[in-house]
This record gives sequence, C-alpha cells and structure tokens, in this order.
Amino acid sequence: MERNYNFCAGPSTLPEAVLRQAQAELLNWHGLGASVMEISHRSKDFEAIVTQCEQKMRSLLNIPENYKVIFLQGGAYAQFSMIPLNLLGNNTRIDMIETGVWSSKAIGAMKRYADINIAASTKDTKFTTLPEANALNFSEDSAFVHYCDNETINGVEFNYIVDNTPSPVVADMSSNILSREFDVSKFGVIYAGAQKNIGPSGVTLVIVRDDLLGKADSKMSDVFNYELQSKNLSMINTPPTFSLYMIDLVLTWLQNQGGVAAIEQVNNAKATMLYDLIDKSEFYNNPVAVNARSRMNVPFTIVNSELDPIFLAKAKEQGLINLEGHRSVGGMRASIYNALPLEGVKALCEFMSDFEKQYG
Ligand SMILES: Cc1ncc(COP(=O)(O)O)c(C=O)c1O
Repeated sequence: MERNYNFCAGPSTLPEAVLRQAQAELLNWHGLGASVMEISHRSKDFEAIVTQCEQKMRSLLNIPENYKVIFLQGGAYAQFSMIPLNLLGNNTRIDMIETGVWSSKAIGAMKRYADINIAASTKDTKFTTLPEANALNFSEDSAFVHYCDNETINGVEFNYIVDNTPSPVVADMSSNILSREFDVSKFGVIYAGAQKNIGPSGVTLVIVRDDLLGKADSKMSDVFNYELQSKNLSMINTPPTFSLYMIDLVLTWLQNQGGVAAIEQVNNAKATMLYDLIDKSEFYNNPVAVNARSRMNVPFTIVNSELDPIFLAKAKEQGLINLEGHRSVGGMRASIYNALPLEGVKALCEFMSDFEKQYG
C-alpha cells in the first residue's frame, strides 16, 4: 500500500525512512534477537539510545552546556503544572502571554499555583494576531514568563523571541521545535511534546537552564522533578523505550537532511507555497495576520463552508489525509511539519487549485 501525505496536527507524519528502518530491525534489534521494546531500560544498549537522543538534540539545537536536556512523560500538558512546581520556589507570580488555545490552557493550569499576570492577550482578535514585542506588560516580581511559540490550533507563530524580560522565559515549542534555528540561551525552559517534529507521542522534551534547578516542590513526584531526572538520565522510572528509540532515529534523519538550518529552508518554501495559493484565491481564506502566521500549522476555510466535507472527502481520495480543522475551530488545517515533504505540499496545492476550478 502506498503512503498518503498526512497533514495531521499530531501525532503526525514521521519520515518514511525512519519507519522503514524501525520495521527492518523490529524483530531483531542490533543482533540481540529481541526487539528494542523488549530489553531493559537499564541495559547499556538502551542507555546508549537515551544518551544519543540528548547528544543529537544538543547538536541540532546548539544547546549550551549550562542547560539540561531531559525526556519526560505526561505530554506537554503535564508541563503546565510541572513548570510552576519546579520553578516557583517561594515566588507567587507568573507572567503569561495569551495567543491561542494552548497558551490559554497553560494559564488555566498555572493559575492553580500562582497569581497570573497576563502580560498580553490577543483574545480580542480571536487569536489571529501577535502582541507587539514592545507592548508586553511584565511584572517585576514574577518567577517566569510563559508563552507558546507556535499555537497549533490557531495557526499563530511568534516571529520574534520574547526577550528582555525581568524573569526567565519559558516557551512551549511543542509544534515548532526543530523547524527553525533559534537561540536557546535566550530561554530559561523550553518544552515540547514529541509527537510533531521530534518523534512519536509518549515523550516530552524539557530543556532547562541549570540555575533554575533546586527549587522543586518536594511534594511532587520525583519523575517530574527536573533536577532529579537530569541526574538520572531521564530514567527515574521506566521510560517509553520505543518512543525514545524512534526519537533517536528521527534525529539522525534530521541530521542527514542537513540539520535545522537546512530543514528551515524547506519549511519556509512549503509554507510560502501554501499561503501564496490561499492569498491569491478568493475561494480560500486564512484568518491569521500575515506577520503572525505559523509555518507549521496552516488553518484555512472555504468561503462557502458547505463545501468543506466535499473538499475533505476528495482530498482523501487523492491521498491527502487528516486535513480537518481542529474540532473547536472547524474548517481545514494543513500541518506541514519537518517530515511532510515539499512534494506533499505541492500535491495539496495542485489539489486545492483543481478543487477551486471545479467548485469556485
Ligand atoms: C502547542 C501545544 N502545547 C501543548 C500541547 C499538549 O500536548 P500533549 O498532548 O503532548 O500533552 C499541544 C498538543 O498538541 C500543543 O500543540
């Protein structure tokens, strides 16, 4: 069976070469006569996988020495609680920027632990814009500033790094990590669920600056304590071994593509192609302000929304799958992460042009 072009927002498409390698070595991994899922996480063979995941992540993202790189469970969602429990110490305030569904959920979770100062919100534009970089109202006494660098559902991505803040910056990069180069040293904590650009679901990447450790709430489980996990190779308990193995393969694949700088060029070309088509058409629409548009998640509507189900069904017939918009916003959404090739976006654009000719 041929593989479709899969525009799912997450868990999302994985590089075909990675899936083929996993398939080829599934029954007998590295000559052990067992699959990688069937060996102890305490074995040297498996520890090597986790060590390589960390090393490859460090080299791909140019992560400075004074940062820990850990792999946790519970998804990015768990981090909405783990971040305050690890970072607050005696502080009682968090600065938060609200730009869409995910940063709003983070606010909802973090307000259980501290007073929230909303440094900026774009709610009144229905989350179709970005706050101006010079219009963020930070408090002087917060433990940290939180924002979501790419809003997966709203299709909004920061085109600047939130910088010059009185307290360390914490960023949710679940849906755009590894898609473009950026300066890790500007951040206190970066976190990301794996199931978009890193690998399959089950793992959450946390990159944390050393000086922020040591304040964790002692009532929290050790498995969510950044400092303890970093001292234990992210293996205080049994990690999701198959997911970590897959992450190691995805990171090797990305290195073979030329790394983050090279994939960024491809990602820019893919996003430009799709937004150009939408902007030139009076049939399709994207509601997001041009300077706030995500290069990873492209939501779009058809002016006559009655055509949505026909569009989706015909796209599927052409091997273009999972283009439904998020259930909270409707319409369509094309998620075009690292592993979705340029040819996939070309095929989508051709399909969209033909559909417009037929129904426009
Ligand atoms: C930006 C963002 N943050 C957080 C989450 C929640 O992640 P998880 O489902 O891994 O807990 C998602 C999920 O898609 C997301 O896109």
